[in-house]
Amino acid sequence: MRRVSLNWLKPGEKLARPICEANGQVLLNSGVTLTRDYVKALRRRGITHVFVDDRIFRDVIVEDLVRSETRKHATKTIKRAFKRVQSQGVEAVNPEEIARSIDLMIEEIIKKPDISYSLIDIKSTDDYTFEHSVCVCILSLVMGRTLNYSEKQLQALGMGAILHDLGKMNVPYYILNKPGKLGPEELDIVKKHPVDGHRLLRSRMDFHTIVPEIAYCHHERWDGTGYPRGLKGKEIPEYGRLVSLADVYDALTSDRPYRQKMLPHEACEIIMAEADRQFDREMVETFLYSVAAYPNGTIVELNTKERGVVSGQNLRFPFRPVVKVWDQKNKQTYTRNLLKETTVFVTRILDELPNFGQTS
Ligand SMILES: [Fe+2]
Repeated sequence: MRRVSLNWLKPGEKLARPICEANGQVLLNSGVTLTRDYVKALRRRGITHVFVDDRIFRDVIVEDLVRSETRKHATKTIKRAFKRVQSQGVEAVNPEEIARSIDLMIEEIIKKPDISYSLIDIKSTDDYTFEHSVCVCILSLVMGRTLNYSEKQLQALGMGAILHDLGKMNVPYYILNKPGKLGPEELDIVKKHPVDGHRLLRSRMDFHTIVPEIAYCHHERWDGTGYPRGLKGKEIPEYGRLVSLADVYDALTSDRPYRQKMLPHEACEIIMAEADRQFDREMVETFLYSVAAYPNGTIVELNTKERGVVSGQNLRFPFRPVVKVWDQKNKQTYTRNLLKETTVFVTRILDELPNFGQTS
């Protein structure tokens, strides 16, 4: 399969991955032939790219690190927890229910040690806080796996990561979804959420101590420019340094009311540039060992002007994937492993392989 922009999609192409709404409802299933009307409907829902099937790149597989059912289950669980805190107070939260969801994610992540984190689905604006919480949790768990955390440590880390923004339930919806820049008073309200989350979670004795700690620290920055306490360097606990990075990466790769999402490699570049500034350099390395800058199915151009589809990852080297190159002249493919061919690198991402449709 390959990831194609709707602008380039030719009617008659087959969908290779289902398209789901945020509530888990399948909009279009894999195998469906895309018509003009379908494309129009997808565009209306803000979908810009889809994975399509074809004969040449059939062996390019996009494997989910955490199954979409597991992710959706976690999203529902965390949404319920937020609502309960809002209506009945933090005592109404059922930590076991959340823990079960986290255990499922840990189990799947541990089972696939060779798969790096890559986000391929879109998030809806309405449920952003909950879907974001789950994504931050998954990425944090993958980073924890890279750091060889024990299962117990992963459980505590996962719980802290999924609840890191609990304090946001005190921030009015119009501020969270404001399209423009926040005013000073609105910013003050937003900046309270780590303190609120910490207070709420600390009042429950059945959470591991790092859970409220993560909520408190996830906006602290390595160089001391974060909030609420302006902690610096290793004053910020390791779990906090880890989740803060996962939080920023997921926010950068999500559509927000005030800006469009970045592609994974662009967000990775920003994180790398912030090593020793906003982020702990060692944690940036852990992050880069855990993610795919060019997820499978991405159509890329190389510095050699060859074009093809990312077909595999080299764990720990996110910018050096395996690429299945399309030879337009001879109508065949060959593979380039960028980890072995160190003078070859990706120069840009394409919306479609030019002239490719003639052969599929
Ligand atoms: Fe936050």
